[in-house]
Amino acid sequence: MDLCLRGKRALVTGSSSGIGAGIAQSLAAEGALVVVHGRDEARGNAVAGAIRAGGGHCVVAMGDLATDEGAARVAESARRAFNGLDILVNNAGGKTTTGNPDWLQVTLDDWAGTYQQNVGAAVRMIQHFAPAMRDQGWGRIIQIASASATQTEPGIGEYQAAKAALVNLTTSLARTLAHTGVTVNTVSPGFVVTPASESWLASVAEQGSWGEDRTTIERRFTREMIPLCVSRLGRPADIGNMVAFLASPLADYISGANFRVDGGQCRSVN
Ligand SMILES: NC(=O)c1ccc[n+]([C@@H]2O[C@H](COP(=O)([O-])OP(=O)(O)OC[C@H]3O[C@@H](n4cnc5c(N)ncnc54)[C@H](OP(=O)(O)O)[C@@H]3O)[C@@H](O)[C@H]2O)c1
Repeated sequence: MDLCLRGKRALVTGSSSGIGAGIAQSLAAEGALVVVHGRDEARGNAVAGAIRAGGGHCVVAMGDLATDEGAARVAESARRAFNGLDILVNNAGGKTTTGNPDWLQVTLDDWAGTYQQNVGAAVRMIQHFAPAMRDQGWGRIIQIASASATQTEPGIGEYQAAKAALVNLTTSLARTLAHTGVTVNTVSPGFVVTPASESWLASVAEQGSWGEDRTTIERRFTREMIPLCVSRLGRPADIGNMVAFLASPLADYISGANFRVDGGQCRSVN
């Protein structure tokens, strides 16, 4: 299927690593012109190198989206790179605490920091790019939330609440941009194997004495740890495939929606 993305200009925040890198690669493989973004220049350049090696077109923009100044710098670089933007993927995120601290001990500073890293980063980029998308009469804004936005787990309350805010703000933004040609959607991944999640997977496998074989570890994880409907964990390309479709003109009739790409992790009907 031709997704008709050739020449579309895209910024994928947090694409110097993991899921964002997978999304950037999927869009570039469809012929989009991609701005790879992150805070670590070496990682950003490595992702850009892989995209170019595959025949894709991209540039790199660096900056911390948890601050107004950093976000403004990234927006300016991205705008200049291809003379405007058609597709904004708000993927950058994470949490400011390490490990899984007691819910009751997480400081308000960490709640605020995690909100900035996920919601603040997305809102800043939306405010930089949505007006021009509305004026040009076409655009795509896609937030990367999490399965835990709608089906929560114990702990990491500040992270799950921030992801829930992304799902929620997507719907009000879709209505705000109604009849402009700009669609707004959320993609909610389940467990995806990335640098951020790999160490947790390794420690779970060690604690369970699941051995070294990767297929076995993933089969056991998807039965004993987080029950899924498929026998493997997610890969960045699984999210990239969904984002590429939503970003395409083929998805014109889809706005204000949240798409779970979680191997069947969420138990709710909808
Ligand atoms: N992996 C999963 O299982 C999973 C599941 C559900 C949702 N998610 C979400 O998917 C997104 C990507 O996760 P991942 O696992 O791919 O994580 P990752 O490998 O740690 O990558 C995170 C990316 O976001 C960037 N980033 C983080 N905070 C930033 C900030 N303040 N300013 C600018 N860039 C920032 C990082 O940049 P640098 O590294 O260059 O600093 C990196 O490129 C996140 O929003 C995460 O919450 C992940």
